[in-house]
Amino acid sequence: MNVLYSHIFPAYREYAELTDEARIDWLRRDRWISLPQAEAALRHLEDLVIYPPRGRMPCLLLFGATGMGKTEIVSRFSKLHAPQFDIRTGLSKMPVLLAQIPPEPSEEQFYTEVLTALNCVDLSRLSVRSMRAEARQLLAEVETKVLVLDEIDKMLAGTPRQQRVFLNTIRFLTNDLKIPIVCAGTEDARMAVLMDPNLADRFGAFELMPWRNDHALRQLLASFSGLLPLRRPSMLDTVEARQRVLALTQGVTGRIFRLIEAAAVTAIRDGREMLDAASFEANDVTLPLVSMFTSAGKRRTIGRATV
Ligand SMILES: Nc1ncnc2c1ncn2[C@@H]1O[C@H](COP(=O)(O)OP(=O)(O)O)[C@@H](O)[C@H]1O
Ligand SMILES: [Mg+2]
Repeated sequence: MNVLYSHIFPAYREYAELTDEARIDWLRRDRWISLPQAEAALRHLEDLVIYPPRGRMPCLLLFGATGMGKTEIVSRFSKLHAPQFDIRTGLSKMPVLLAQIPPEPSEEQFYTEVLTALNCVDLSRLSVRSMRAEARQLLAEVETKVLVLDEIDKMLAGTPRQQRVFLNTIRFLTNDLKIPIVCAGTEDARMAVLMDPNLADRFGAFELMPWRNDHALRQLLASFSGLLPLRRPSMLDTVEARQRVLALTQGVTGRIFRLIEAAAVTAIRDGREMLDAASFEANDVTLPLVSMFTSAGKRRTIGRATV
């Protein structure tokens, strides 16, 4: 019945039949998309889950520019290892614990975040010492295998002393509990972690690189044609389309996704029902966010070779 939309992957064809508004709504929803770098990062994370406890646990720093998909990756990782309730023991298991770095990088705030992620409520009367003890005990009880800290850059808002205390806290936890810690953040965060010689040699690094004009980008753009609920086949496998996408997004994953989303919404509204290089005209009024990035990007890259 859906052979009409043979350019779309079979599982996605039904969405092309929805009304315009429903298709636009569909486009705007969050969904995980399997990307080569994100999958590679996930494989590294998976490896840590099964790492046997030993003297020095390996840790991982997942770093890359804002919008490269770090939060998506660690959220996906924590969803793949969602908490499980063990009926036999009456205890929950939380193999992967995801916590945000607090805006104020103090030990107290840090343990507040960790305890909140462990579903503890009413922490107001606890001293830092008891919070630390409570966090250690609970992390062992729920058998956390990997602790993931997102937005580690926030640590940089602290004074040099606060930052040292904070890095010590991380070191203490990984030594004491013998669990790997994953930190996600930007290049600045990477520098901060590397400043601590004791942490630097146990943190492996995985960098999310911006997209370039290569095979992976071709595949990504080709896959949009099969995923988007547009009724005509898109023509994104052209040099021009790739160049425009890169020029408008600087190869940042989140910007590419927003650009494609905005262009697809336009294609539904104006009845064109497909995407090609012309869908990414920089002066198109429907791409305000992306255009903002572009004009800033253009100023910075004047004189440099284009992709
Ligand atoms: N694997 C993915 N699947 C779906 N969307 C993604 C993926 N990676 C990135 N994105 C998109 O990019 C945006 C930015 O990603 P995010 O993880 O917040 O970046 P970061 O944490 O590195 O700043 C997300 O809001 C999402 O729309
Ligand atoms: Mg993030």
